[in-house]
Amino acid sequence: MARLTLKNVSFSYVEDEPALIDVSFDVKQSEYVTIIGKNGSGKSTIAKLITGLLPELDNGEILLDGEKIKEEQIREKIGIVFQNPDNQFIGSTVRDDIAFGLENHQVKHDDMDKIIDEYSELVSMKPFLDKEPSALSGGQKQRVAIAGVLAMHPEIIILDEATAMLDPKGKKEIISLIHQLKKNDEKLSIISITHDVEEAFLSDHVVVLNEGKVIYDDTPENVFAHHQEIMDIGLDLPFFQKLKDGLIKEGFAVENCQNLSQLEDGLCQ
Ligand SMILES: Nc1ncnc2c1ncn2[C@@H]1O[C@H](COP(=O)(O)OP(=O)(O)OP(=O)(O)O)[C@@H](O)[C@H]1O
Ligand SMILES: [Mg+2]
Repeated sequence: MARLTLKNVSFSYVEDEPALIDVSFDVKQSEYVTIIGKNGSGKSTIAKLITGLLPELDNGEILLDGEKIKEEQIREKIGIVFQNPDNQFIGSTVRDDIAFGLENHQVKHDDMDKIIDEYSELVSMKPFLDKEPSALSGGQKQRVAIAGVLAMHPEIIILDEATAMLDPKGKKEIISLIHQLKKNDEKLSIISITHDVEEAFLSDHVVVLNEGKVIYDDTPENVFAHHQEIMDIGLDLPFFQKLKDGLIKEGFAVENCQNLSQLEDGLCQ
């Protein structure tokens, strides 16, 4: 059974202007799902609905393990990092901020410093623990927010463009951290809302939104095989797909290649 299910979800902020129309998809236990779509396609609305931040749905339901999701389950099991890091700080220092989240999760005071050290180290923010959040850059704030969420050991993490403000190196670090976390915690499910098609290409499953509707819900290989449709809705193709298309045009028989190393080895006849 899926961990999280969106079933025929429709939602409007303003009457007769639906932001989401009949959206359905599943997130399985331990799955890394990416949601892609151009600006305004409804991605953040999905994240806000899952985390209970918006009023009632117009239609449909959100299920956790097959049952309608409850507020306390959202608090206990789901962690979210928002798109805008300025909206997610409460503490007066980085340390206080992470501690605040842990307190809400009934973590014992004696354990806190160790946990805060461990997770701030993971995102390279340990030297900033006693700084005010307002003194950090956007990317540094985003790292702190990620550390704060990870420290609470959620079962499902939602990242709403959480790496958008990071430099290329920082972005790579966070994405490899996500892959690492998945390895360490085999039950963790990750939903990453992203404009980065390379990240989507490396995820388990891609949901493509356009004008509030799901147009693809499939493996990255199958989704990005719809080259023209993906480009028509304003999205880019991953490097692998572009390279493969170019090679096919030149007459190479690489149609069955699923990744870059297969392309390099020519092992996909
Ligand atoms: N608070 C709001 N009130 C009214 N309309 C809203 C509100 N928030 C979002 N919308 C509308 O809902 C639609 C979906 O917005 P959403 O924020 O989910 O898009 P998104 O895919 O996350 O876009 P982006 O890539 O820019 O973050 C848009 O048409 C947007 O204008
Ligand atoms: Mg958004």
